[in-house]
Amino acid sequence: MFRKGEYMKLFIDSVNAEEIKNVHQLGILSGVTTNPTLLAKQLANIKSDPFKESKKVLEEICKIADVPVLAEPVSTEYKKIVEESLELAKISSQIVAKIPLTAEGLKAVKELKQKGIKTAFTLIFSLKQALVASIAEVDYICPFVGRLDDIGQVGTDLIKSIMQVYKAYNVKTKVIVASVRNIEHIVKSAEYNADAVTVPYKLINELLEHELTTKGVQKFIDDWNKIQIK
Ligand code: E4P
Repeated sequence: MFRKGEYMKLFIDSVNAEEIKNVHQLGILSGVTTNPTLLAKQLANIKSDPFKESKKVLEEICKIADVPVLAEPVSTEYKKIVEESLELAKISSQIVAKIPLTAEGLKAVKELKQKGIKTAFTLIFSLKQALVASIAEVDYICPFVGRLDDIGQVGTDLIKSIMQVYKAYNVKTKVIVASVRNIEHIVKSAEYNADAVTVPYKLINELLEHELTTKGVQKFIDDWNKIQIK
């Protein structure tokens, strides 16, 4: 089921520089996703222009690791989406304009692609939306599995369908599974051959943990310490 010679990449869903640095230090960071909600929490107490402040945060993130950083404009009208995305893209060539899949978003992606800006469609909740995104030849899509679970669906079933169809048509658009809430989401995404998952910081440690690893490490230390020099 897994593609030979490739692996599912791990992105962090965070705007917190310390968290991003910590994951980068582990050598497993392939990208960063941000969104207006995460930025608004981080910038809750600022006194100046929020867009200007958010650009500073994104600039700091880009300096941590040379990986794609998905940044989302907040405007909903195509000209403004393009304008904001171009501003964001000035921060670094790592910036990918992450745009909600709407008619205005499609027009914006078309123009941004012509200007050489990397693009992603976000807030993807159905195969039909993923199909449109692939026709628009966007670089990435972010299907939200957790929010589908919230409305009683099995979010990862969408990943299965998208990957099957994208594979059949050899679609170049990369799938970054978003709105990831638990390890099952990550494991299922890998089983369905998603290109990447974007994961909140709290799940990263959970990925490493196993009770028998902890016990095993302790046993090795205890056994080693039993050596007596005679
Ligand atoms: C990332 O690109 C998304 O914005 C994020 O994963 C959404 O997660 P949430 O559904 O937990 O807000």
